[in-house]
Amino acid sequence: MKIVLFEAKRHRRGDFACGHAGLDEYLKRHASQSLRNHLAQVYIAEDGQGKVLGYYTLSAASIRHEELPESLAKKLPKYPVPAVLIGRMASDAQARAIGQRIGSKLLIHALKQALIASDTIGVQCVIVDSKPEAVGFYQRFGFAPLKQDGLKLYLPISTIRQMVG
Ligand SMILES: CC(C)(COP(=O)(O)OP(=O)(O)OC[C@H]1O[C@@H](n2cnc3c(N)ncnc32)[C@H](O)[C@@H]1OP(=O)(O)O)[C@@H](O)C(=O)NCCC(=O)NCCS
Repeated sequence: MKIVLFEAKRHRRGDFACGHAGLDEYLKRHASQSLRNHLAQVYIAEDGQGKVLGYYTLSAASIRHEELPESLAKKLPKYPVPAVLIGRMASDAQARAIGQRIGSKLLIHALKQALIASDTIGVQCVIVDSKPEAVGFYQRFGFAPLKQDGLKLYLPISTIRQMVG
């Protein structure tokens, strides 16, 4: 398994199924357009022959000061906070069934990419828009909820540096 940038011509994704139709659909129909419009970078976990085992997207983002939890808000000026957004993440259900741990590998890769970005541009934290059923997955890696509905989670870049730096 390796994690590489998405290539529409190379990556076979017709039978990709993560259990969430919207996430499957995005990869099959919208990922190329996201790239063309510079809305997201798309990373693919593939088997070495182009078969997609999982994917995630990464984008620049910002969080309003009011969204931050109290403990963090009081340390920062009242301006928008720069962040890296994991917009989507999914592993193929068949790969999950045989314990390939694609989700963990993708998430660690994403955190490392955010760390690389943070060497050249200010990044305070990584945020993720989680599906309700995946919140527990992100919490295992230390993500905590921002204010709002509990589905937007964050992990400070300082913590990420300690984890994977
Ligand atoms: C969420 C998802 C990406 C996790 O990927 P995965 O390949 O199952 O992850 P891993 O196998 O590496 O799991 C790592 C650990 O997290 C746990 N875990 C996996 N999914 C979990 C979930 N939804 N909630 C809580 N824990 C979860 C695993 O049991 C494993 O635990 P362990 O270390 O004790 O063995 C995957 O289940 C998925 O694609 N789900 C459907 C789409 C989705 O919800 N995407 C996320 C929202 S953007």
